[in-house]
Amino acid sequence: MTPGSFFFPRTKPVMTKHILIQLDSDTQPSSFDSVVAIDAGVDQLLRYSQVEVDGVVPLVHGAMFTRGGDDLRHTAIFIGGSNVARAEELLAACQGAFFGPVRVSLMLDANGCNTTAAAAVVAAGRHVPIRGAKAVVLGGTGPVGRRVAQLLASDGADVRLVSRSLERATQACGEIVHKVGEASIEPASVADGEQTVAELVRDAEIVIGCGAAGAELVDQDTILSIPKLKVAIDLNAVPPAGIGGIEVTDKAKNLGAGVAYGAIGVGGLKMKTHKAAIKSLFESNDRLLDAEEIYAIAKAIG
Ligand SMILES: NC(=O)c1ccc[n+]([C@@H]2O[C@H](COP(=O)([O-])OP(=O)(O)OC[C@H]3O[C@@H](n4cnc5c(N)ncnc54)[C@H](OP(=O)(O)O)[C@@H]3O)[C@@H](O)[C@H]2O)c1
Repeated sequence: MTPGSFFFPRTKPVMTKHILIQLDSDTQPSSFDSVVAIDAGVDQLLRYSQVEVDGVVPLVHGAMFTRGGDDLRHTAIFIGGSNVARAEELLAACQGAFFGPVRVSLMLDANGCNTTAAAAVVAAGRHVPIRGAKAVVLGGTGPVGRRVAQLLASDGADVRLVSRSLERATQACGEIVHKVGEASIEPASVADGEQTVAELVRDAEIVIGCGAAGAELVDQDTILSIPKLKVAIDLNAVPPAGIGGIEVTDKAKNLGAGVAYGAIGVGGLKMKTHKAAIKSLFESNDRLLDAEEIYAIAKAIG
């Protein structure tokens, strides 16, 4: 008798299913994050909404104690939701629930903050070496702006983080230095009596607009007058543009003064990064994908 005959039925190797546990603090888990997870090859998605820090431990233990040995890597946790600060608390609670090596991989991309920031900095790096570049991050105190500034600083750029409040900008820079260690980053404010945005961007080679949806941060004339500008990126997709003259679909569009990207222009790389990051969660049981790790994935995609 040969394998596959009546006595030795040929059996297919059993593939352990990839299970992603989606934790979201909103009233409904993000359908965007769910679609991307499925497109990234997740077999089974377990979606939890209104997740609070107090409720994290049983969810994490359910992931940790069901599959042993190498199979543990086939379960992972994604933390999303519109509230990035809440998501960071959930991430810390997940990490606190692990016992030594008994853990599962984790990814944080609440409100797309990490994948968007990573894609923007990689897009900028196509046009000027990040190391040593003079970069201005407008609207730099939000979740996306902080990460953009962090990634630029950790890659050696000379960063100016701009806010409407010097206090908020200083606090954001302090947090970035705490994370990155040695960083060339300075806070700046466009509040009344402080410098104008034109003065703050005058020596920039990279300008990345990370302001709130629909908030104009700098006008077109100011951007076009920056002598050494290599790339301007506006992550706001809601009119009016955050950086005047940049359209959401712009992708390396020649401005005369450097090139421009809009939110959709960096969106392709953001989506590829998000999917690649989800896939990589299942390579081992101890991955932690936050800003820097997701940036490394985006850089590898290019
Ligand atoms: N393309 C994508 O896939 C994608 C994904 C995520 C986010 N986004 C976009 O990326 C941008 C940044 O996201 P985020 O969540 O970090 O934004 P956010 O927190 O809503 O706002 C970022 C910063 O903008 C400043 N700001 C708020 N209102 C303003 C106004 N009226 N005028 C000038 N500045 C104002 C605030 O800084 P100060 O108060 O300190 O000045 C705030 O910290 C948003 O436009 C968002 O829609 C795009």
